[in-house]
Amino acid sequence: MKNLIFLCFVALMLCETASAKMVQHPSYKKGECAACHTTKDAKDPKLKMDMPQLCYSCHTTYENNNFIHGPVAAGACTICHDPHESKNPKLLTVATINELCTSCHIDKGDMLKSGENIHPPVAQSCINCHDPHSQKHKFQLKGDRKKDLCLGCHTDKKERVTNSKNKHGAIEMGEQCLGCHNPHSSPNIKLLRAEDSKTICLTCHSASLKRDEDGKMLMNMGEHIANNPDIHGPIMWGDCAACHNPHGSNNLRMLKKPFPAKSSQKFTPDGYICFECHDPKKMTEKYTTEATEFRNGKKNTHYIHVNAKRISCKVCHDYHASKDMPHHLRTETKFGAAKFSLRYIEGADGGSCNPICHTRRYYNRVNPVNVNTNKKAN
Ligand code: HEC
Ligand code: HEC
Ligand code: HEC
Ligand code: HEC
Ligand code: HEC
Ligand code: HEC
Ligand code: HEC
Ligand code: HEC
Ligand code: HEC
Ligand code: HEC
Ligand code: HEC
Repeated sequence: MKNLIFLCFVALMLCETASAKMVQHPSYKKGECAACHTTKDAKDPKLKMDMPQLCYSCHTTYENNNFIHGPVAAGACTICHDPHESKNPKLLTVATINELCTSCHIDKGDMLKSGENIHPPVAQSCINCHDPHSQKHKFQLKGDRKKDLCLGCHTDKKERVTNSKNKHGAIEMGEQCLGCHNPHSSPNIKLLRAEDSKTICLTCHSASLKRDEDGKMLMNMGEHIANNPDIHGPIMWGDCAACHNPHGSNNLRMLKKPFPAKSSQKFTPDGYICFECHDPKKMTEKYTTEATEFRNGKKNTHYIHVNAKRISCKVCHDYHASKDMPHHLRTETKFGAAKFSLRYIEGADGGSCNPICHTRRYYNRVNPVNVNTNKKAN
């Protein structure tokens, strides 16, 4: 009796397992054991042919490709597929594709568990990018690893790198997208290969680079920052991409927002990327006691220069880095083709400068200077 119950139990279990197995190989399902075995006898399951030729006798070979996955080249189809039946789609031996892949690629399994930022398609399934069998691209990737693969999904980036007026040399150089991004995961934001964009930018921009469009040389930004210790806020945070779009843009110098190309331009707040962070009231309020420190009493000196006289920030400030002068003011500057010194001197409650534009002029927030006599009110 005990034995009978036990047998019933086993039968139920078998039934249970059988019904959970959803997928059956067609030949197996039809009982055509001879399609693969020399005898129908389950006790002598010799194969008709060696692996993988047996499978290739019905399935198109995966070996007519440049890059063949290790286990496929070894004919080990049955590591991943059960030749008879499985409860997993495609007769897979493991429930999810990522479990399957990471059962051998243990480092990638550790990565998925690491808590790093994982690229969403990697978390979803390795075969979003890799073919499990073979491919004409390295690492059995479904597109060229450096760029085409990425642009297949990132169509907005495709549009940007193809159609931007100011394209970035970096996109076509060396490792292309992979030069700045990791494809799987990264401890850094945006899958970056370094802790911040600045570190990445300066790997190339620590030399004077040639501009493709016009053959002009770009300044050596690494050297500039190293020689000018008073570094502008966003660069201090390591974020060159606060202002520049590394993928290219239609604005001057691949900026995310416009900035005047010339020393002088009619003022509008949206003509200057600076107002992404700074208050445009600095330039729009003719009289103020709050919007800016660059004022003579209430008279806004920023307004006079930038708005009324249309002088661009770059004539007075260096928004990358400066030295010896406060407020990121330049020592040497340019207006159009003219090169000269600002000769800025900081004073209590104000300052003065003596560029070629005018003789030394003073501004003082507390005791305004009479612009005609150049004297303070008291
Ligand atoms: C599509 C090809 C294919 C068909 C059809 C097929 N087999 Fe197999 N069978 C294999 C392969 C390949 C192996 C070796 C598995 C391995 O390497 O782990 C195998 C192994 C076996 C084994 C050894 C134990 C095991 O499961 O690994 C038995 C028993 C067996 N088959 C029985 C059958 C029977 C009975 C049928 C028909 C109902 C059948 N096979 C149909 C390909 C097939
Ligand atoms: C006698 C011919 C034949 C042989 C031999 C054969 N297959 Fe198949 N296989 C088929 C047919 C027919 C299908 C169903 C149509 C299709 O998906 O191509 C199929 C489907 C499959 C599928 C897809 C199942 C699904 O759910 O979509 C896998 C995986 C597979 N075979 C693996 C193998 C492997 C591994 C071998 C070698 C051990 C093998 N086959 C040998 C004929 C064969
Ligand atoms: C490393 C694991 C792995 C190995 C080894 C492997 N396959 Fe696959 N195979 C897969 C995965 C994963 C899929 C599912 C692909 C999908 O869903 O797009 C698949 C799908 C298939 C399919 C269904 C058709 C398709 O492409 O979706 C067939 C047929 C197949 N494999 C046959 C084989 C044969 C034959 C071999 C041995 C020469 C083999 N596989 C070796 C992982 C493997
Ligand atoms: C049975 C173990 C096994 C499984 C499962 C497996 N791989 Fe592999 N994989 C290998 C071996 C072995 C190599 C060859 C390594 C070499 O050539 O150095 C390899 C190579 C690779 C390579 C190329 C690496 C290189 O350095 O050339 C990629 C990419 C890859 N596998 C992805 C996958 C993906 C995706 C899956 C899941 C669909 C998967 N693997 C499942 C064993 C496995
Ligand atoms: C978004 C696309 C994408 C997905 C999804 C993806 N990979 Fe990759 N994989 C790549 C690219 C691109 C490379 C080439 C990296 C390089 O050349 O530095 C690569 C390289 C590899 C390599 C060989 C070099 C190395 O890093 O070891 C292995 C192995 C690999 N991938 C396994 C996996 C596994 C396992 C998964 C799933 C957990 C996966 N990949 C998911 C894009 C992807
Ligand atoms: C299979 C589609 C697919 C492929 C191929 C692909 N990606 Fe992605 N990627 C995504 C999705 C989905 C997201 C998440 C949504 C988004 O940010 O667009 C994403 C996000 C990203 C992010 C932002 C991550 C973050 O933390 O905000 C970066 C960077 C990225 N991908 C770079 C790449 C690079 C580089 C490649 C080529 C090696 C690539 N992607 C290939 C689908 C893909
Ligand atoms: C010169 C380095 C560099 C190169 C080359 C590069 N990227 Fe990026 N990428 C970045 C930086 C830096 C960010 C973060 C941007 C930000 O903060 O605005 C980023 C962000 C992204 C994002 C997240 C969405 C976004 O715009 O913030 C995606 C997706 C992306 N890149 C895809 C790509 C693709 C695809 C390629 C190749 C065509 C590529 N990147 C080439 C540096 C680069
Ligand atoms: C606050 C915004 C801002 C930040 C942050 C910033 N830049 Fe710039 N950058 C500009 C502006 C504006 C220009 C245009 C200058 C011009 O042509 O007058 C420029 C121009 C450039 C140029 C072209 C210089 C030339 O020779 O004409 C390079 C190269 C450059 N930036 C690299 C960088 C790098 C690398 C970083 C990070 C270390 C960085 N930028 C951070 C605003 C910024
Ligand atoms: C792989 C090398 C490389 C990296 C990394 C790199 N650049 Fe460049 N960059 C170049 C080259 C080469 C040029 C000049 C060729 C061109 O773009 O026409 C250039 C040009 C520029 C220009 C001038 C564009 C114009 O319209 O005149 C700016 C601004 C710039 N890069 C900013 C950055 C920033 C910001 C980063 C970091 C997010 C960065 N670059 C990372 C290689 C690189
Ligand atoms: C992403 C935000 C951001 C953008 C865009 C930005 N700045 Fe700044 N700026 C800052 C931060 C933060 C500080 C404070 C730290 C410092 O002194 O550098 C600052 C400080 C300054 C200072 C010095 C203030 C002082 O009193 O010392 C000047 C001048 C300046 N920025 C000019 C500019 C110009 C010109 C632009 C446009 C080309 C610009 N900034 C764009 C964030 C930004
Ligand atoms: C004619 C030279 C000149 C021009 C042009 C100029 N600035 Fe200034 N800016 C100054 C001086 C001088 C100071 C220092 C004021 C003080 O603290 O005494 C200053 C200070 C600043 C400060 C610190 C906060 C403040 O307002 O006192 C910021 C931010 C700033 N400027 C941004 C800009 C931006 C953005 C532009 C272009 C839209 C610009 N400046 C154009 C000379 C100039």
